[in-house]
Formats: sequence, structure tokens, C-alpha cells
Amino acid sequence: MGWRPGAFLRTHALWMAAALLGVSVRALAIEPGIADYKHMGVASCATSVCHGKLAPQSDRDVALNEYRIWQQEDRHAQAFRTLELAESKRIATNLRLPNATAAKICLDCHADNVPSDKRGPKFQISDGIGCEACHGGSEKWLESHAEEKATHKDNLARGMYPTEQPLKRAQVCLGCHLGTKDQFATHAIMGAGHPRLSFELEAYTTNQPAHFIVDADYDERKGKIAGMNLWVTGQLETTRRYLSLLQTNMFHAGNMFPELAFYDCHSCHHPMDKIRWNSARAGAGIKPGTVRLQTQNLIVLQALTDTFEPAATAQLVELTNALIRAGQRDRTSVNEAAKALLNWLGPRDALARRQYSSADVIKMRKNLARYAATDKAGDYAAAEQIVLGLESLSYTIGDRNSKKAALDALYNAVKNDTTFSPQQFATAAANAQKSF
Ligand code: HEC
Ligand code: HEC
Ligand code: HEC
Ligand code: HEC
Repeated sequence: MGWRPGAFLRTHALWMAAALLGVSVRALAIEPGIADYKHMGVASCATSVCHGKLAPQSDRDVALNEYRIWQQEDRHAQAFRTLELAESKRIATNLRLPNATAAKICLDCHADNVPSDKRGPKFQISDGIGCEACHGGSEKWLESHAEEKATHKDNLARGMYPTEQPLKRAQVCLGCHLGTKDQFATHAIMGAGHPRLSFELEAYTTNQPAHFIVDADYDERKGKIAGMNLWVTGQLETTRRYLSLLQTNMFHAGNMFPELAFYDCHSCHHPMDKIRWNSARAGAGIKPGTVRLQTQNLIVLQALTDTFEPAATAQLVELTNALIRAGQRDRTSVNEAAKALLNWLGPRDALARRQYSSADVIKMRKNLARYAATDKAGDYAAAEQIVLGLESLSYTIGDRNSKKAALDALYNAVKNDTTFSPQQFATAAANAQKSF
């Protein structure tokens, strides 16, 4: 598969409703639909007559070697063990936690940390991010879904989580790869030594690595989902999650400083001898030397809007700039700016469902490359998001191999966030632009 982004990424009122419904408040940190039923544990899925086959099988709808792939290649299987490593011990010590493997704030994202009444007899927290963390508690479908006549619809009716739907998939991934109002990789966690989080739905789906095969039979059972729609859904939903979190106490609990992890990490963390001030930043109406809220997904959405609804781009740019300015003022301003953006986003969900021709996808990629070649991608996180997008779209178009040299040059320009140079990135992108 060549050089996938993960390789470099690694180097560097509800409460009331919950009470009324009798749902434990703890369960709210988890995506709705995931912890409705008991999690029976990976051991319930892993036997050799179930998903634990050594090699993919051809006589059933699914390959049945999913457990092997997960156990041998998927980082999620290691997520709990990561908490036992020296790196995690150091993070825990810095946060004055007695033990990362027992700390709720770590387990919420590094394991399937459902409440105790949602754990079946074979459930083990040490399994890390097991099957049911994404596929939902199997209490009601564990038996039935293995029957030959079981349809996907039957499984969903019994509580299987619809991971095949781009929006639902994005939501479950984002719960850990961006966060929720209850589980979030705060700047304190980062400052203690946690790696920066980044996410792009299409690339992370490919990178996971896939334990499912999308073929004609899959499309028939679950519906056909084009890579472009997956990518667009990821951009829209990541933006929505971020803007929604900005409206919670996770962003601002009334201290002198807001939660710094919502701001662009590199607006504070970069060497002082390279001046990065440019016209795009000045255009936002801020002074040099200000801390900016994260805008990487909004910038990608600007490129998307520019491609398919150009008349609306100016409005989105203005709303984005208003958010950046609000990020200098106070919580109320941020709240209002986030709300205005969420309102703008509402009708754009149609972009996630729209049918794209291959000419559309090529046009999108060209525009994204053009954004990369300008100072619109002057922040590291924006450059990274654009490079991930260019590769995802190349997979979708089906010409990723012939674009490898151009993509490698761009990956090289975002390889190291400390030495990242916006000017070098723009030059690399200008050179790569003709390839797209
Ligand atoms: C319960 C939390 C959780 C959920 C849900 C989750 N992840 Fe993860 N993911 C993690 C953690 C934690 C790691 C890092 C594990 C480690 O290395 O210890 C990770 C790692 C990854 C990696 C490897 C990243 C790298 O740098 O190599 C990919 C790719 C990934 N996840 C994709 C996904 C996708 C796609 C989804 C949704 C279908 C998803 N994840 C859902 C928590 C989660
Ligand atoms: C909001 C979810 C979240 C929380 C909270 C969280 N993590 Fe993570 N952690 C992740 C994800 C996602 C990754 C993988 C990042 C990637 O590669 O994209 C990760 C990666 C890591 C890594 C690097 C693993 C590797 O493969 O290189 C360590 C170490 C780690 N986490 C430890 C901890 C500890 C200790 C805590 C508790 C103090 C914690 N994490 C809390 C989501 C979280
Ligand atoms: C990090 C999230 C995540 C984890 C953990 C996970 N899966 Fe999946 N799984 C997915 C996604 C995403 C898909 C693709 C969408 C779909 O078909 O639902 C999928 C698809 C599948 C499929 C459907 C294949 C098909 O052709 O219909 C099976 C079977 C499956 N997973 C089994 C497992 C098993 C068994 C485990 C545990 C050993 C597991 N999964 C762990 C996210 C996950
Ligand atoms: C408003 C400025 C600001 C923003 C934005 C910011 N940080 Fe920080 N960060 C700091 C300060 C100040 C420290 C403390 C440095 C020290 O103790 O010397 C720090 C410390 C750290 C450290 C520990 C470094 C050390 O020297 O101990 C890490 C890692 C880190 N931040 C990561 C991040 C990540 C990841 C993000 C984005 C999600 C981020 N920071 C956003 C200001 C910021």
C-alpha cells in the first residue's frame, strides 16, 4: 500500500435526558448506539468458527479473519497495552495519575470503557479497542448474526452499530480521534507528553487496516459508498464536532485561559526565528502574534465550496475569519461564531450525499492542490489535512500510483511539524500541482 499517512502521523440538557431515560451518565462519553447493549468481549468474536479464521473465507459474505487482522495489524488491539508503556507511565506521572491502565481519562479512548453493567462475562478491558467499541454491544445479535439467513437489516435492528454509513462511522471514530464533551485529549494531557491528534475519515479508514472487503456482494448488502462521499462526510462531521465542542465547558470552564487544545497547536509551538505572518492571516482581521482557533477542516471546506458552490465561498471565508477573531475575545463570541458556522453547514450536508462524477473528483483534487500552493495552507494542520485529502482523492480516482512522486514530495513537506515551513510547503505544492 506504500506510504500511508499513519506512518508519519505517529512520529510526531443531555444530562437531564439521560437521567430521565435511566441511562448512566458515564455512557454518554461513548457514541449513542454503541453501549445500548452488553459488550460480550472480543473472546466472543474470536474463535476459529467465527471471526478467528487464519485466512479469508470465500463461502460466506464476510471473510471471517477479521479478528486476526485486528489482533496482528490494527493499532486498536494494542491501545490498552500502550497504557502499560513507559511513555504512558510518564504521561500518567506528569498528570499525577497513579496508573494509566486504571485511569478513566485514558481508558475512555484506549479501551472499550463501557460501564460495568454493560460488560458481559467474557469482556476484558485489556482487549483494548475491541470489536464492539465500533460495532456496538452484541448482546442481542451475537447469536443471530451468525445465522446464514441473517440480513444486515436484522443485525441493525438488534443493535449492531451501522459502521458502513459514513456519518455514523465518522461519529464513532471522532469520539476518540477528536473527542466528546466528556472525553477529550486536553492540553494538560498533551503537555504531559501525549501525541497531537489528527484525523481524516477516508485515510484513517484505509489505514486502520481494513478487515472488510468491499466487493459487489458488499455493495449489495450494505450499499455503495464512494470514497469522495466518505471524505466529504469526514470533513463536514469533523468540523461539526469541533464547532459543537467549542460550545461546551470543555472549551471554556471559566478559567483565565480557554482549553488550549482547541487552538492551532503550532500557533504557539514553533521556532521564533521563522516568521510566518502572511496575507491570509492578515485577511482574517487579526494582528500578528495572535493565537488562532483550529481551522484546518474549515479551509478544506472552503476548497470544497469553491469547487461545487463557488457563490458561497466568500460567506464561508468570512464566517471562518469571524471565528478566528472571536477566538481572541470571549466565550460568548466564540459561541456565536461557532453557531453561525453550524447554521451555514446545515444545508451543506447535501454535499455528503451528492453523486460525484470522476470529473468532479478530479476538479476537487485540482482545487485542493491549488489551495496547497497558496498561503491558505500556511498552518501545519491545514497543510497536513490537504495532503491527506489529496491522497484520499487519488485513491478514489484510482490513479494513486501514478501520483506517488507528487504525493511523496508533499508528505515530505509535512513530515516534521517542528521544521515545517509554510513557504517550502507552498513551493512543493506548486511543483506538484501540475501532476494533479
Ligand atoms: C474507543 C476509541 C477509538 C475509536 C472508537 C476509534 N479509534 Fe482509532 N485509535 C484509537 C487509539 C487510542 C489509537 C492509538 C492506539 C495505540 O497506538 O495505542 C487509535 C489508532 C488508530 C489508527 C492508527 C493511527 C496511526 O497513527 O497509525 C487509525 C488509522 C485509526 N485509529 C482509525 C480509526 C477509525 C477509522 C475509526 C472509526 C471507524 C477509529 N479509529 C475509531 C482510539 C479509537
Ligand atoms: C480523546 C481520546 C484520547 C484520550 C483521552 C487519550 N488518548 Fe492516547 N491516543 C489517542 C489516539 C486517537 C491516539 C493515536 C493518535 C494517532 O496516531 O493519530 C493516541 C495515542 C497515544 C499514545 C501513542 C501511541 C503510539 O502508538 O505511538 C500514547 C502513549 C497514549 N495515547 C497514551 C495515553 C494516556 C496515558 C492517556 C491518559 C492520560 C491517553 N492516551 C488519553 C486518543 C486518546
Ligand atoms: C475501530 C473500529 C473497528 C473495530 C475495533 C472493529 N471494526 Fe469491524 N469494521 C469497522 C468498519 C469501519 C467496517 C466497514 C464498514 C462496515 O461494513 O460496517 C467494519 C467491517 C466489519 C465487518 C463487515 C465485513 C462485511 O463484508 O460486511 C466485519 C465482519 C467486522 N468488521 C468484524 C469485526 C471484528 C470481528 C472485530 C474485532 C476483532 C472488528 N470488526 C473490530 C470498524 C471496526
Ligand atoms: C496558547 C498557546 C498554546 C497552544 C495553542 C498550544 N500549546 Fe502546548 N504548550 C503551551 C505552553 C505555554 C506550554 C508549556 C511549556 C513549558 O512548560 O515550557 C505547552 C506545552 C506543551 C507540551 C509539552 C512541551 C514541554 O516542553 O514540556 C506539548 C507536548 C504541547 N504543549 C502540545 C500541544 C498541542 C498538541 C497543542 C494543540 C492541540 C498545543 N500544545 C497547543 C502553549 C500552547
